[in-house]
Amino acid sequence: MFQGLVQYFNYRELRLRSNYLINKRLTRKGSIMHKNYDNLLYIKTSNTGIYIEESPHYHHYEATPYTIIHTLFEEYKLQRTDGFVDFGSGKGRLLFYVHHLFGSSVTGIEMNEHLYNKTLRNKKNYLKHAKKKDAIQLEWCLAEKYSVKETDNVFYFFNPFSVQIFMKVINNILDSVKKYPRRIDLILYYPSTVYIHYLERNTSFKQLQEVRVPGLYHINENERFLIYRLEN
Ligand SMILES: C[S@@+](CC[C@H](N)C(=O)[O-])C[C@H]1O[C@@H](n2cnc3c(N)ncnc32)[C@H](O)[C@@H]1O
Repeated sequence: MFQGLVQYFNYRELRLRSNYLINKRLTRKGSIMHKNYDNLLYIKTSNTGIYIEESPHYHHYEATPYTIIHTLFEEYKLQRTDGFVDFGSGKGRLLFYVHHLFGSSVTGIEMNEHLYNKTLRNKKNYLKHAKKKDAIQLEWCLAEKYSVKETDNVFYFFNPFSVQIFMKVINNILDSVKKYPRRIDLILYYPSTVYIHYLERNTSFKQLQEVRVPGLYHINENERFLIYRLEN
């Protein structure tokens, strides 16, 4: 428990530094982009509002910056047939972006009721203008309790919870793969070493790709995506 707290506070400190750099280096462009993309999608996903969880296992809301999402999807593409799941989806930024860009099916799993309600509102507004009107599922539940669907095959994690919860979620994915064999991709943004060690030492996932965030990675090595694949 104590070690978990220390890890979490180290993580928060590094993230604050990273955000300072994102603001300083990318930002005039970054903040304009943030507003434009929220406006383009008719959603509101900024980091405003403080939603502190009581357990150190559950990390609080912070959206993946749009500039950084673009970097990922320049390198990594989804298909319409993919089922994208964001574990700890917050206000749904990744969901609407992926649905808009690739037309994939998307599912958001969020434990915080307040954030879940914001995502419902975002969904309503997004769908008024979207070409494709279906394939957005939202669930208000704990990630570790989510029953993985046979159509889910790409899973996104922006450091939402402790490695103990991550292990449970990965085991649920693997149980689903046993039942319905298929290829699985995991996308980790700002990957923690404990997540990496767990995947590499205890599972058959293999690292497929690393996408470094230009302008940030050389200052903070956590500023990257790691994509792991399980072939079946
Ligand atoms: C760092 S934010 C990431 C938000 C979003 N995925 C993004 O990248 O823009 C982590 C989110 O995970 C949620 N979360 C934390 N633990 C969770 C759990 N066990 N089950 C579901 N959601 C959880 C938090 O409430 C928060 O919204």
